[in-house]
Parts: sequence; structure tokens; C-alpha cells
Amino acid sequence: MTLPRIGVFDSGVGGLTVLKALAEQSPAHYFYFGDTARLPYGTKSAETVARYAIGAAHFLEAQQIDLLMIACNTATALALPLIKQAAHVPVFGVVEPGAAMAAEVSKKRAAVVIATEATVSSHAYRDALQRRGLAAYEKACPLLVPLVEEGWIDHPVTEQVARIYLDEALAQGSGDADVLLLGCTHYPLITPLLRRILPQNMEIVDSAASTARVVREALGESNKDLTSTDGDHRSFRFYVTDSVDKFKRLAIRFLGRQVDHVEHVDLGG
Ligand code: DGL
Repeated sequence: MTLPRIGVFDSGVGGLTVLKALAEQSPAHYFYFGDTARLPYGTKSAETVARYAIGAAHFLEAQQIDLLMIACNTATALALPLIKQAAHVPVFGVVEPGAAMAAEVSKKRAAVVIATEATVSSHAYRDALQRRGLAAYEKACPLLVPLVEEGWIDHPVTEQVARIYLDEALAQGSGDADVLLLGCTHYPLITPLLRRILPQNMEIVDSAASTARVVREALGESNKDLTSTDGDHRSFRFYVTDSVDKFKRLAIRFLGRQVDHVEHVDLGG
């Protein structure tokens, strides 16, 4: 049978957490685009993020993809409708699946969302949660992305920073939230650290894992007989706009294994 060709787009390496979750659940040929020359997106305007993301979407479409996954929370939050308009294949983002999973898990109907500055300012997660009847308390955690990229995923400084952010976030929610929704590609890597500092009664929901489930369902029955097998039914190609070597170095941390087939591309503008 023919495997689906899935394009995965992110501002950099972080989206590899989404790729990892997707590949665990869905056999496919994966084409990953990391816009490493222009990251971070989390501090940029919606117009700029949309322009970058649409350029990347067209590049991935030229690889004959059947489906495009916007792994970047910031790009999803700021530009998903525009990317969908510009693309010729079905496009999935990470916000709706993350919110849907939070709504499944939360008993108290309230969640804390942590994300980049731009994602929080867009209120995309708040709106998606409110549509599902949940109260949302959003907290931008801009220092966590560079700390994770530095590899400080179990470091006292990261723990201290996360503690300060979460204390502030939980203070807004006056203790009624029972879910912490990870609204950024980098945060799944610090799940164990977050678990240590969160109140016992709070569950962690990861948008990457939630999205992988949605994509598996969308691919449906055709892929079913392959889902129990591994390696043989997955292939990976990576395209980055900055250094190939740096991407390879960081990718091991995010994907948990070495990556080959990484090419540099220049989209200009
Ligand atoms: N990929 C971004 C996100 O998920 C984090 C990194 C960035 O700011 O570009 O929001």
C-alpha cells in the first residue's frame, strides 16, 4: 500500500516533539521543515509568522505531501486560517487537538495554558478551551524555549524559572484548574520537571500527543494495519533554513535519535 506523505512545519527544532508523537502513531513518509534561520516565532507579529509559514507550506507542498501539520503552536495560533487558505492539502494545527484533550481530561473545567508570548497574546488556546466550556488561565513563559534549546531540561535554573511562571499562572486560577496544557513545542521535554513542581491533582496535557491522535484518526483505516509495526514504514526528510549541523545536534535531544537526510533550503524574504 502507498504510505501517506506528511509535511510537518515548525519554526525550528521544537516541532520534532510533534514529529516524534506523529511517527509513533502513524506510519508515513515525513517531510519536516524547520525555519531555524528565522526562529523564534514566539516574539513575532501575526503577519510575519503567516508569511513565513505560507512560504514553508508551499515548499512542503512541492514535496507532494498529502497533509500538512503545523507543529508550531505560535504559527497555529496566529496564522492557521491563512495557511489553510493558501494550502492545497488538508492542514492541521496543534491548538484544537490540545484544547480537546484538555477538555477530555479536566474535571474541574479549568486549565492553565503555558505558551510563547505570541501564542498567549492571540488567546487562541483560551478561545478553543472556552468553546469547550473550560475556563482558561494563560501564561507566557518566554524563557523556557532558550533553556530547553540549551539542553537544560533537568537543570535547577529551569526548575526555578518554571516554578516562578507556574506560581504566577496558578495564582490567576485561584487553584481551580486541574490541567496544565503545554502550548509550545519545547515544553514536552521538561514534562518530568513540570510534574515535580505542579500540584499533585493537576494533569499535564501535551498538544503534540493530542495532535498525533487526531492525525492518526484523520488518516483512518487505510493506515491501520501498519500502526503496530515500526521503522520499516516510516521515512524522514528534514529541511532547515539555517545550519544543518546545528539542527542535527539539537535534533537528537528532541527526537531521541540521530537524524540523517537534512538539507539546507533558502526561501528568501
Ligand atoms: N515552535 C514555537 C511554538 O511552539 C516555539 C519556538 C518559537 O518561538 O519559535 O510556539
